[in-house]
Order: sequence, then C-alpha cells, then structure tokens
Amino acid sequence: MFLNRNRTFWLLFAVIVTIAFPYLLISFLEGTSTGYNHLSGVDVRTSRKFRNVIVHIDLKGAPPRVEYLQQVFELLSRQHVDGVLIEYEDMFPYSGEIENITRMLHYSEADVRRIIYAAEINGLEVIPLIQSFGHLEFVLKSPAFMHLSEDTIDYNTICISDKKSIEIVQQMILQIRKLHPNSTRIHIGADEAYHVGEDHRCRNRMTEERIEKSQLKMNHIAQIGKFAKNAGFKTVFAWNDMFDKESEIAIRRAKIHEYIVPVIWGYREDVTEPGYFPDGLFDRIANIFDGFYVASAFKGADGQRQQFSNISRYLEVQRSYVKLMDLHQNAGEMVQGIFVTGWSRFNHFNALCELLPVAIPSLIVDLFYLNYQFSATRSWEEMKKLLSCRTNKHKGGLMDLYDCQFPGSDAFEIVMNDWKQIVDRRIQGRHDSPQDNVIAVLEKLKKSLQPILYQADIDEIYNQYLHDYHAIRIGTTVES
Ligand SMILES: *[C@@H]1O[C@H](CO)[C@@H](O)[C@H](O)[C@H]1NC(C)=O
Ligand SMILES: *[C@@H]1O[C@H](CO)[C@@H](O)[C@H](O)[C@H]1NC(C)=O
Ligand SMILES: *[C@@H]1O[C@H](CO)[C@@H](O)[C@H](O)[C@H]1NC(C)=O
Repeated sequence: MFLNRNRTFWLLFAVIVTIAFPYLLISFLEGTSTGYNHLSGVDVRTSRKFRNVIVHIDLKGAPPRVEYLQQVFELLSRQHVDGVLIEYEDMFPYSGEIENITRMLHYSEADVRRIIYAAEINGLEVIPLIQSFGHLEFVLKSPAFMHLSEDTIDYNTICISDKKSIEIVQQMILQIRKLHPNSTRIHIGADEAYHVGEDHRCRNRMTEERIEKSQLKMNHIAQIGKFAKNAGFKTVFAWNDMFDKESEIAIRRAKIHEYIVPVIWGYREDVTEPGYFPDGLFDRIANIFDGFYVASAFKGADGQRQQFSNISRYLEVQRSYVKLMDLHQNAGEMVQGIFVTGWSRFNHFNALCELLPVAIPSLIVDLFYLNYQFSATRSWEEMKKLLSCRTNKHKGGLMDLYDCQFPGSDAFEIVMNDWKQIVDRRIQGRHDSPQDNVIAVLEKLKKSLQPILYQADIDEIYNQYLHDYHAIRIGTTVES
C-alpha cells in the first residue's frame, strides 16, 4: 500500500517535472536576460527605469467619448501605468467669462467627474494640463480675446504683459482646480511660445522693468507656477523649451526651480543625437532642480497628417530615452518619471494625426518596453498576447496585426489594413482602387468610430482621409 502510493507520487512528480522543465528553463532565461521576470510578481513600479509612468491624453482633436476612456483606463491600469495627463484644451466645461473658449461638443461637468472616477477605480492619478503661454490658439481665436495675442496673424502666444491674459490663465487654473479637488499635480504646458516680447505691451514692460526677453518668459512661468501651487496643487509641471538654454543663475533668479518640475520633451526616434537637446541641459537640470521628468511619444509625432501607426518608430523613442539617461548619469539618477505623450494635432488649427484607437498597440508595446526593458521582438510578442492579435507577414517584411481584441480594435484594423492598402496602392501607382471601395472602407471606418468619438469629429476624419487620398500624386509618397 505504502510502496504503491510512493511509486505513484514519484511517477507523477517525474511527469510534472518533464512537462514543466522547458517552461521553467525559458522563464528562468528570460528572467535573467531582462533582470527581472514579470510573471514572478516583481513590482515593476519600483524596478523600472522610469518609476512614474504617465500616459498623455490629448483632447485637442478627435476627443474620445467618456465610455471609451473608461475602457482605455482599464487597459492602462493592467499595464501598471500610474496616471493620465489630460490635456483638456477646449473640451473642458469652462464657465463665466471664459465660457466661449470651450468648443461646442465638449465634456460636461458630470463627464469630467466620470472620467476622474474611472481613473480612480483603475488606480490612475489624473494630472490636468492647461496651457498658460504658447499653444493658446483655442483661447486667442475667440473674438473676445484676440487682442491678447502677441501676434496678429499667428494666435499661438498670449501676451503675458497684459493683466487680462494673466486673469484668464488664472481663471482656467481655478476652474480646473474646482473639478479636480483631489489632484495634487498639474501641468501648465508653456512650450513653443513662438512670439514672446513682440507686441508693444511686452516691449514697454521690458524697458520699464529693465529686463530681457528671457527674464520676461521665465518670470511668467514662475508666476503661473506659484499661482497653481497656491491654488492647491503640490506639484506643477512645465515643458522645458522656454527656459532650457538659460544659465543656472538666470533660472535661479526667476525662481523657476521653486515652483516648477521640468518635463524634458522630444519625440525624435533617437533623442541622444548630439545637438538635439541644448548643450549642458542635463547638468543644469541636475544642479538646479530636485527632480525632473522626460516625455516620449506613442503617437502624433510622425507627420502632421499621419494616419498610420508606426510602432517601431515610437518604440525607438522609448529606447533612446533609456539610453539618454544612461549617457547623463547624474541626471539619470534624478529622473522621476516619463510622460508617454499621444498628440492628436500639432496645434489647434492643424489636421489630425494618428487616432487613439489606431495607436493602442503602439502604446502597449512602449509600455512593455518601459516596464521590463524587453527587446523589441519580445515587446511586440507581449503586446500581441495581451491584445490577442494575430500577425500576417507580407512579402515586404511588414507586419499586419489582425483579429485583435482591444477597445477600438476594429477601427485599428480598418485603418491599418483596409485603408492602408488603398492608400499604398495609390502611392505606388498601381491600379487605383475603385472609388466605390474607397468610400466603402471610409464608411466602415465611420461606423467603427461611432462608439468611440463624437459625430462631428468622425466627419472631420472622413473628410480629411478622403482629401488626403485624392491629394496623393500617383506614384509618389504622401506629402506631410
Ligand atoms: C459667448 O458667446 C455667446 C454667443 O456669441 C454670447 O452671447 C455670450 O455673451 C458670450 N459669452 C461671453 C462671456 O462673452
Ligand atoms: C476625493 O477623494 C475622496 C476620498 O477618496 C472621495 O470621497 C471624493 O469623492 C473625491 N472627490 C472627487 C471629486 O473625486
Ligand atoms: C517606421 O519607422 C522605421 C524606423 O523605426 C522606419 O525605418 C520605417 O521606414 C517606418 N515605416 C514606415 C512605413 O514609415
């Protein structure tokens, strides 16, 4: 009896070991080659290079419906994302004097609360982003505020020497604060202010206060940072490019470091390329600030009218940021996190770039890389597993993903497979697809976008894609 039981035990044991051994070996090898194994329950939030990973949701074009955001948040949560940076632009329900900077089809206050709640139950922090300097096109195009533009043609930069401008920015911050009472962090933008100090109001002020343009700029960023802190936000982020060439002394004099945590952004495939960031930037950052963030991209940085998602291209950006931090070790030890940005337009007046559902696989690949520093092949494999995608290799070595299961996967497949084929045929100057097919695919796309976007935005996509299709000069590449 005893002997028998023992025999059965050893037999079972042998069978199990034989079956399990290859799996154990593979997972051991993978574990050692990446430093840690995601299956073993190691907390990537403490082991990954960029501890804090925040995904940017840009609402300045094709803003998702709340129901779609809820689904995306679930996916982000499963990928150990810490928070979402929500760039509201004209989707926020501003009221009072600034009610007209909000677009017609915008989120209601109840929608914003639903978004915040969806983030909360998925363990995601909400960091609102409002522009406070450049990229205020959506404010300055309004007849009531046009006179606050530095430039009379390009409504990019708000005149920071007009009291009214400051009041408007402050109102935006206060209204954002009111609907985000639990948020501890805010981002005040402040990138690409193209027309500082051109208008007479700024020039007079510079003469009166005997300050240079660089001081004028930095004083403004510090002033808004201080205001946001007093409004209740503990941390205030701002983009780097309006002060990143200034000396340490100048930055300290403006007190930028007292109010701001800088976010170094750049979306080139290889951000380590010499000259891409200003000389000595990372030393200055390390000397002046207590910490900083970097910002890569998973969409919206590959051409102003880009429709198709190039996963490899964006993965390269993430990889080069890890390399960059290794190259600048002092700063590399101080980096607190990464914003993975997803731009919808280059600016308010521009066409649309890659749509959010079309860029989900790209985002997931990037997150696998950022969490585990997997190889490119492994990051793709994990994405395919997570999103249940199958692949189809073309002769040209390109890869189609199909049969995926994720929020918006049918829109993804229509754009990346059906529509791309039609566009490629025209670019290559082969027989044009019959007009009926062109329209049929776009109609199918429209339908797939119904649960994700608002009707007016779906119409914009339809018109833009049709226009761009006809704009392709046969046998050439698409102009961007
Ligand atoms: C907003 O625009 C509407 C319609 O043009 C106008 O009636 C209203 O007075 C404007 N609101 C403000 C605060 O300027
Ligand atoms: C803020 O947090 C508290 C405590 O977790 C919660 O009860 C409340 O609903 C939150 N408020 C908002 C607007 O999210
Ligand atoms: C995608 O990006 C890679 C660089 O990572 C580039 O070599 C390739 O040409 C791009 N593909 C397309 C279709 O643009």
